[in-house]
Amino acid sequence: MAEDAKSVSTYADAVRAGMDAGLAASGGMNADYIPYLASIDPNLMSVAIVTAGGEVHKAGDHDYGFAIESISKVFTLALVMDAIGPDEVRDKIGDSPTGLPFNSVMALELNNDKPLSPLVNAGAIATVSLVPGESADDCFGKILACQSAFAGRPLTMSDEINTSEQSTNFHNRAIAWLLFSAGTCYSDPMRAVDVYTRQCSTLVSTLDLATMGSTLAAGGVNPLSGKRVIKEAYVHHVLAEMMMEGLYTGSGDWAYTVGLPGKSGVGGGVLAIAPGKLAIAAFSPGLDPAGNSVRGQAAVKAAALSLGLNLF
Ligand code: DON
Repeated sequence: MAEDAKSVSTYADAVRAGMDAGLAASGGMNADYIPYLASIDPNLMSVAIVTAGGEVHKAGDHDYGFAIESISKVFTLALVMDAIGPDEVRDKIGDSPTGLPFNSVMALELNNDKPLSPLVNAGAIATVSLVPGESADDCFGKILACQSAFAGRPLTMSDEINTSEQSTNFHNRAIAWLLFSAGTCYSDPMRAVDVYTRQCSTLVSTLDLATMGSTLAAGGVNPLSGKRVIKEAYVHHVLAEMMMEGLYTGSGDWAYTVGLPGKSGVGGGVLAIAPGKLAIAAFSPGLDPAGNSVRGQAAVKAAALSLGLNLF
């Protein structure tokens, strides 16, 4: 009993430390290449922790629904890994950081049009192209069901965000055609971009995100619903990809200072996983030049440090 009480107060302190550090950080700018994201209140800020045992701690605007964006790449990777196995994922997409921005065409040019990482846009579009399904609706239905299983509740796509992205995603369409020309897009390329864009437009709260992460921390079983979402044997492959490329060109700094598999999205979300223990999620819209939330990184980093979670 006493031990439970102590651990609860420790997690609550970590969430508070995350909020304080996040609010003290400044300098980020909302993403502006997606019109919807440019319009979000930059002062929104929240932190949540969900443990592998299902304890929940949260603070700030933790119920606010924001665009999952690139954090969706993690869960579609899990879905495809479950469908075709890690060897095929590695062979068809790759397992290495690109060292270049998340939407880099040069990264493709330098690597014979192989995406290298499923967590950059090229690799995520290729990953989506491997989701089994007869149509875009069919594939997206599987992705949304997977995201919802990770979150432990039915998630929804925002039509407003999707419309905003579908009408401005020309760069991603170019990437998909480059992949297709090299044989590394495994469905119709415009269908793959359509579904990829929809998967980025799902609304999540910080609490949803922490729950999704806690499912990976718990070896693939959602600790709130008790349901298995991904084979345990594949979870460490997903975490390895997150460690290498989860924060793009910020991944080295993240590994050096936080030491946990992480993932960011241009919607302002940041997620980190402490395997076997918990997930920390934070949200605030202002981004650094690599596309990672400035306050979100500061918050997750402070919470992780206060709990001594660095793996290294
Ligand atoms: O494809 C895009 O550019 C966006 N839908 C997602 C990019 C993203 O979130 C990068 N992460 N920080």
